[in-house]
Amino acid sequence: MGERILSTEIISKAGQEVLLKGWINARRNMGKIVFLDLRDRAGLVQLVGVPSQMTPESVEHLKEVRPEWVIEVRGMVQERGEKQKNLDMPTGTVEVLIKELTVLNIAETPPFEIDKDTKNIHEELRLKYRYLDLRSERMQRNIRLRDKIITFFRNYMHQNDFVEIETPILMKGTPEGSREYIVPSRLHAGKFYVLPQSPQQFKQLSMVAGFERYFQIARCFRDEDQRGDRQPEFTQLDFEMSFVTQEDVLQYTEAMFIELVRSLFPQKKLALAPFVRLSYAECLEKYGTDKPDLRQDKNNPNELAFVWIVDFPMFERDEEGNIAATHHPFCSIKDEDKEKFMRGEDLMSIRANAYDLVLNGYELSSGSIRIHERELQKRIFDLLKISETEQQARFGHMLEAFTFGAPPHGGFAPGIDRIVMLMAGEPNIREVIAFPKTGDARDLMMDAPSEMPEKALREVHVKLE
Ligand code: AMO
Repeated sequence: MGERILSTEIISKAGQEVLLKGWINARRNMGKIVFLDLRDRAGLVQLVGVPSQMTPESVEHLKEVRPEWVIEVRGMVQERGEKQKNLDMPTGTVEVLIKELTVLNIAETPPFEIDKDTKNIHEELRLKYRYLDLRSERMQRNIRLRDKIITFFRNYMHQNDFVEIETPILMKGTPEGSREYIVPSRLHAGKFYVLPQSPQQFKQLSMVAGFERYFQIARCFRDEDQRGDRQPEFTQLDFEMSFVTQEDVLQYTEAMFIELVRSLFPQKKLALAPFVRLSYAECLEKYGTDKPDLRQDKNNPNELAFVWIVDFPMFERDEEGNIAATHHPFCSIKDEDKEKFMRGEDLMSIRANAYDLVLNGYELSSGSIRIHERELQKRIFDLLKISETEQQARFGHMLEAFTFGAPPHGGFAPGIDRIVMLMAGEPNIREVIAFPKTGDARDLMMDAPSEMPEKALREVHVKLE
């Protein structure tokens, strides 16, 4: 008798003895005979327990085993009778007659049924027992699909000469737009790191460093109010290229998404190929939103309508009426608007070389061609009313880097969670994140955020109010 095989491998093994390991997905009693569905990473297989065919200890185990117990089974693969064949199940033409059944671990009764889709179970309960929720078929499929999509992007980037660079998670507080998570420093009393909202500055600095093509499957952190398509930590396919125009970034990205759909989702249809392009102004006027859903059938998840939105305004007014950068302060200005920009006139009408990619009504990605000249970058900071001292304190490193031969550059950052959500046809990104947080940013399984012991706070020089 050989080694453990996976459930799906038994199809071709009728008449042979096999060793299987996994979880009990379901149990059905038919008098003395017991049917068990065994689940492993590959799928399900039906086991048949007939006491007269089993060792005495196995007969005892057969009586007690219940869903989610972990077992090991030796048995004989047999063809099912014509009437017993289950064509909905990949292994449904065969089953395994148990000879020996060993219990590897017992399990409490799970708080919800795992052999059925868990989408109607209260989400708080699913999140508290996420490791059980993840055992369900749909969640396994989603997380494995996520891995496939990330693998696709990594390969695509490498094939195109990009280098993956890990950038710091502990960085300096320099808000780009949303609120940052703050980490107190133990070694430097009264000083703090923040977690990156995105690797924006590091990717631009990688261009100054001469890599020319950078990418990263990058975790980003934002302390903002949550929505179905937002999480406090999320993942971007972050990339940046030197010596490119906006057109180059758009074409590169478009080809990548078309290839993603072609190779991983052949059943899906690209409604608009090439992708439609709309200016921000045109899009607002026509659709009243900068995230239009241009599918013919808005209920069809297999229809993919990618839309480019270009020519975003450089500036907007924030809630307090102050001038702010629409995307971030590193975007370059469109040539046509440069004169106005230098004169500091009619700021709200100045457009940036900034673009979004929208899919089926969701913003998938934002990016821009950046400023690579110190004086222009300073001018933006001046117009944003960031004082000289503050410019130095927050962005001095960027301004200085631009004086050492920064190449023209630009990039993009598709949100991986939203891509997987749309490709999987899920209603929110929590369904495609293994361990997500709730709408109010809590981890119900670990119970985070949590209080810290006095001593730990003292060590990092933090006093609570
Ligand atoms: P931006 O802030 O637009 O751009 O983010 C880019 C993409 O990241 C995804 N995203 C999110 N996904 C889940 N939860 C969130 N809270 C969340 N916030 C953003 C979206 C979004 O389109 N550094 C720039 C990119 C650049 O200029 O290259 C940036 O981060 O899919």
